[in-house]
Order: sequence, then structure tokens, then C-alpha cells
Amino acid sequence: MVSHGGSNFLSGQTLLCMLFGLVSLVSFQVEAATKTYQFDVQVNNVSRLCHAKPIVTVNGMFPGPTIYAREGDRVIINVSNHAQYNMSIHWHGLKQYANGWADGPAYITQCPIKTGSSYVYDFNVTGQRGTLWWHAHILWLRATVYGAIVILPQQGTPYPFPKPDSEQVLVLGEWWHGDVEEIVKQGNAMGLPPNMSDAHTINGKPGPLFSCSEKHTFAMEVEQGKKYLLRIANAALNDELFFAIAGHNMTVVEIDAVYTKPFTTSAILIAPGQTTNVLVYTNSGPGRYFMAVRPFQDVPIPVDNKTATAILQYKGIPNSVLPSLPQLPSPNDTDFALNYNKMLRSLNTLNFPAKVPLKVDRNLFFTVGLGKSACPTCINGTRLSASLNNITFVMPQIALLQAHYSNTKGVFTADFPDKPPKAFNYTGAPLTANLFTNHGTRLNKISFNSTVELVIQDTNLLSVESHPFHLHGYNFFVVGTGVGNFDPTKDPAKYNLVDPPERNTVGVPTGGWSAIRFRADNPGVWFFHCHLELHTGWGLKTAFVVEDGPGKDQAVRPPPKDLPLC
Ligand code: C2O
Repeated sequence: MVSHGGSNFLSGQTLLCMLFGLVSLVSFQVEAATKTYQFDVQVNNVSRLCHAKPIVTVNGMFPGPTIYAREGDRVIINVSNHAQYNMSIHWHGLKQYANGWADGPAYITQCPIKTGSSYVYDFNVTGQRGTLWWHAHILWLRATVYGAIVILPQQGTPYPFPKPDSEQVLVLGEWWHGDVEEIVKQGNAMGLPPNMSDAHTINGKPGPLFSCSEKHTFAMEVEQGKKYLLRIANAALNDELFFAIAGHNMTVVEIDAVYTKPFTTSAILIAPGQTTNVLVYTNSGPGRYFMAVRPFQDVPIPVDNKTATAILQYKGIPNSVLPSLPQLPSPNDTDFALNYNKMLRSLNTLNFPAKVPLKVDRNLFFTVGLGKSACPTCINGTRLSASLNNITFVMPQIALLQAHYSNTKGVFTADFPDKPPKAFNYTGAPLTANLFTNHGTRLNKISFNSTVELVIQDTNLLSVESHPFHLHGYNFFVVGTGVGNFDPTKDPAKYNLVDPPERNTVGVPTGGWSAIRFRADNPGVWFFHCHLELHTGWGLKTAFVVEDGPGKDQAVRPPPKDLPLC
């Protein structure tokens, strides 16, 4: 849109451009719309794998409705809770600038919406476009209460990749035969992990490799020679997943609502909380092809390793044609996982720059530990727990953001340590000791606009394991990652500070570390936790208190009038 005439006075072309700019600005302002949704949280009977059971849904849909918005829109969602459980809903990956009241994690930014009550989530979608998702953020209710969020680019702004002929949302999940809340209760009472899921699902359906599932199979009809954009979200509670399509490669173009440098792959890896957009070219012979999902687990921890499938169905091919299965990486393929994550890079163009903080104001180092605590009533006399820097997080009784906003004392302390109390060989021989683990509602305080580097270090306390860590209120850059112990003298030299992947959830490798950077420019209280529900429940979480800035738009907004109280 710039004039290349090289003259100092406004050429006709420049004027025309300015006029157009003005017109498009005006029309954009007119078009920045408000999208309104009504979410009725209710209980419905749903049948899968030959069993029917009541589940909590939104509007009777499973998965729940997809939220559609354009970058710049305001979104208003009225959530009415008709179920017997308290409820809260998180809009995973939306930044909620100075507006934590609309973020959703129960007891962190709001108290739960009680049965019979409603709450309005009101937020702007600013500076983001792509696929995100929403889910219940209380108990394990997100097992069935989840859906996709599609943020289209501003009107007239194309995707930075070939325009797809059509788009499809694919939300991956987990399914249990029984009542998930009951299963979790039983697990907790025994101090053991609850029973693992009985199936994985694609758009709520396990596919024909499961019994009674012919009619519970998601099929996507495609035409030959076209381009499809698949918007994939991992809503599974505890499983990192591989996804592949028989006979088709995928071109990754976006992760966590941030464009990437496109690359082609035969399979993707997606951790709970993450989203991935891929382009698929339907240039294989007309047929029926399975899309398949199976977990990645590279330590000997039991996992539901069954394969869920959906069908990519070329137009005109009869259902009698048997689909072929894709070759998924084997469940313990560490190399695939490490290599795949290495391929992810921010697009980093003029229009979509990667604003990586180059100078760091705050250096944080958090260790991830599993442990056991005494539990006389439990089966082994112990219960499993988890900690960050040896602190097992204790959920507060009133919402942390409320306590922060109104300066209420006694709800949390802002003394979460910047590093573990004692350095040790984090990823050496297995350790069984609880290294000074204590419990507390302790938060880490950060000054407004400071740049933060956080190294998340897995440890071999009980076992190494891969952990998907999610930060609310922010995207961050994954500037480095490695296997073994982080070396503060050598590893930073290897960081990618040019085009690192920008996301909201990072898979910290098994027995390894990930270094993330972000600018703390969003005031409020922001939850930071492992997105494996199992580990969150065991206390693998904390929150950041980001202080208000000096500017008038840099302080946490006043709470909405209908904010649920505890
Ligand atoms: Cu998607 Cu706090 O979570």
C-alpha cells in the first residue's frame, strides 16, 4: 500500500492509498461485530461403546458448539448452569487483556457458577486469529464440556497460506464408560490415578474400531483436488496424541492461533490444550481414508492406547469400501516427538512478527515433581501428589483475582520462589524422596511489562514424564528445549530468538526442559498449570500475579456485576 514513486509530494497513487486506508479503517470499525452465544449447561443421555450414560453438555451438544468470531470482535457468552455441578468455562488461549474476569478457571479468576445461576463472559478478540478452544475449568467436567473457537482473520485479510476450499474442526477427546466424576472420586479416595479412559474420540466419536460405534463415526466428505483446512484441538484430559491421515500428508500452518512457517509431515503431535491447523490436499486416489488418533507416551506409565478413527471420505465413494489405516508413530516414539517440535517455527513476517523478548528482566526456574503424601485411609497409606519447586498448590476458597483486586489478605501469598529450594541432579537416577515438598497457595509476583524467562524442568521424582504446561492470559515463545538438565551456562546460547514457536501450551519433554519467554503486559492473576487433568488435580499448578501498569488501560478492569461469589 506504499507508493514507490520516490517523490516527496503525495502522488495520486499515495492519495488513493490513503483514501482506501481510511475507507477500510472505517468499514472495519463498522464490521467489528459483537457475537452473542447462549450456553445452557445441562445433563443429557449419550450412548457410546454400547453404553448410555448421562453427561454434562452445552446445549445438548457433544462436543459443544463452535464459537465463531473475527479478529477484533467482541464475544458475549451467557452461561446458564442447569446441571447439578458447579460450573465455570475457560476460553483457552484467549488473552483476555486486563479482563481476567472472563478467563474462567474456578477459584482462580471467578467463583463457580452455581446450579440455577448464570454468568456472562464478555471479551474482545484482539491480535489473535486461528483455532482455540473452550472447556469447563472445574473438576474433570471438561471430559464432556468442550468445543472449538474459530477466530477468522479480519475481513479482507487473507490467510498467509493457500486459501482452503473448505474448513473442518476436529476436536480430539477421551471417553469413559462410567461417570467421570465418580471415577475420579474413587481414585482420590484410594490415592491412585483414576481408571484410564476407555476410548479416544474425534468430534465426540470413537470410530468403527470400537464396538457399537459404526454410527458413532465422524466422516468428512471431500472432493478430489481440493485444499482443506483442518482445525485440530486436543481436548483429551490426560493424553498427548498423534494424529495422521492415511494416504495424505499434512502441512502445518498454525499452532495455538499463531501462524507458523509451513512444513509438511505425515503425522502431528498435539498435547492436551494445544491446537494445530493443517492444510490437506485431496490429491490421493478417490477412496475412503482413516484419520487416526493414538497417544504418545514414552515412559512405562499405563495409558489408554486404543486408536480412535474418523473417515476422510471422497465424494461418490460407497461406504462399502474399506478405509485404510495411516501409519502412526509408535506410542513411545520420542525421536518423532522431539523432531516434530523442532519443526515448529513462528511465521515471523512483517504482518505477523515474532516479538521475542531479547533481554530478560526476571529469570525463573520451576522444577516439576511427582511425589507421595501420607494418607492413612488410602490403599498404600499414601496418595500421589505433584509439585512445582516442591510446592503442591492448594486451591483457595475464594477467587484469587478477586482477592488480588480487592486487596484481601489471607487468600494467597505472593512468595512462590523463583527457583527450587535445593538444586539436585533433576533427571538422574529415579528419586523417591519428597524433597521438602510443602503445600500452599503461593503465587509468583511479576512487575508490569517486565520480560520473563521461565525454564520448566522435568525431574525424575518418582518418574520422568512429559508435561504440557499452559499459561493463561498470554502466549509465550518456546525459545529452547532439551533433554536432561538445563545448563544455564551453555543452553541459552542455543536458543532460537528469531522465529521460535509462539503458543499457550508447551509440551515439556520427558526428563527434559523447555525455556519460554513472555512480556508480562497483561495485568491480573493468571493460572499456570500442567494440562494433564490428573497432574493438575495433584497440585501441579501455580499462578502469576502480574501487577497493574501505570497507564489507565494497564490496570485490571473492575469486575462485572454478575461475577459469581463463593
Ligand atoms: Cu485449558 Cu487452565 O486450561
